Amino acid sequence: HGTSKINNKGHLEIGGVDATALVSEYGTPLYVFDEALVRQRCREFVSAFQASGLKYQVAYASKAFMVMAMCRIVEEEGMSLDVVSDGELYTALQAGFPAERIHFHGNNKTPEEIEMAIDARIGCFVVDNFDELQLLNAIAGEKRQKVNILLRITPGVEAHTHEYISTGQTDSKFGFDLGNGSAFRAIKEASEQAHLQLLGVHSHIGSQIFEVEGFRMAAEKVAAFAVEVRKELSVIFPVINLGGGFGIRYMEGDTPLPVAVYVKAITDAIKENFGANDYPLPEIWVEPGRSIVGDAGTTLYTIGTTKDIPGVRKYIAVNGGMTDNPRPALYESEYEAMLANRATEQPEEVVSIAGKCCESGDMLIWDIQLPKVHVGDVLAVSCTGAYNYAMASNYNRIRRPAVVFVKDGQSDLVVKRETYNDIVGNDVIPERMKQVS
Ligand code: LLP
Repeated sequence: HGTSKINNKGHLEIGGVDATALVSEYGTPLYVFDEALVRQRCREFVSAFQASGLKYQVAYASKAFMVMAMCRIVEEEGMSLDVVSDGELYTALQAGFPAERIHFHGNNKTPEEIEMAIDARIGCFVVDNFDELQLLNAIAGEKRQKVNILLRITPGVEAHTHEYISTGQTDSKFGFDLGNGSAFRAIKEASEQAHLQLLGVHSHIGSQIFEVEGFRMAAEKVAAFAVEVRKELSVIFPVINLGGGFGIRYMEGDTPLPVAVYVKAITDAIKENFGANDYPLPEIWVEPGRSIVGDAGTTLYTIGTTKDIPGVRKYIAVNGGMTDNPRPALYESEYEAMLANRATEQPEEVVSIAGKCCESGDMLIWDIQLPKVHVGDVLAVSCTGAYNYAMASNYNRIRRPAVVFVKDGQSDLVVKRETYNDIVGNDVIPERMKQVS
């Protein structure tokens, strides 16, 4: 998919660059992003919204993969940016991303984060709870500013996805509940605050969702709520944000729909449900993360050791693992892989891909068919663009890999490989523990 193909040397090639050349130049493990595919995904969202005729903002959910070079792409593609921490906000600002296109999320924004974001004059806060509502109004007041807000509501829609990544149901740490009246009270309270400008509501029902039904139901519930709020409080929502969660194809059996289908389902549902009530059509915002970067990412590893347990299993160990991709360990996520240096060879054995961390759960793939594997081969795991680098750790004091963007036969380093100094750089040995010689 994307610009990936097998070249005439029988090697995997991404963005016109031979994977084995990337390995020689940057080493492994290495995260490789197909920049053209990232941009294509951005454009799919933007053009689908353009086709709807509604006003819109597509905000890339930077939690999926956030580095300064990514901010440049998002800006160039004319999109907005969703951040959830001071670190993501700082990254965006350092990259020169226009502050007015930044949306700030999170269920526990600290006073320091709120101050930082107000000072930067970001475009919108997505307020998650009553404490934040008060805190934000107070800080905005001190700074004599009026800040735009959306209120995050939990619409009571359960997306069919992994329990830990579904968020729209009632028992959730996020948002104001629609069912028990707290969303209604929050709207009332928000619209009474002098330093808050209420733009509307936000709903996010989960992640890695394939069916359009959940999005349609969320749009319906939000519309019914908007109509009720207009009637009871005479408050109109100029903006509705329906979050992210658009699924991607990790495995053969995954069946995501084209982006345009989700966008059309959402915009149609908005037109129908608001239109039916003579409600002024709101601007629609979405926050895709995974579907922008997920399938554009490939991780390259070098195969180090093997362990054959006859009649049981053959383990193939790579020089990375749960530190660069914690998703299999966390969510039992599945991935496809191939030998990048012998891409044309037929599958010959079933093996399981292990990482190098000191725990048995550090497995990347169980039971995958590969050509006969040799030590030194390059394993390419696909669809690792989302929530891999972003969730990488230094467990076992393993250094995080480098990240490169490839496009039109050119590769560019966008994150350097961590150094040993990065590993010990923040360590401090207390004076009293220092050796007296
Ligand atoms: N908006 C909000 C409010 C969110 O909470 C999320 C994801 C998104 C947008 C973007 O969702 P996406 O389009 O990427 O599905 N670490 C997990 C995924 C956690 C998603 C958290 N929120 C994973 O690796 O699967």
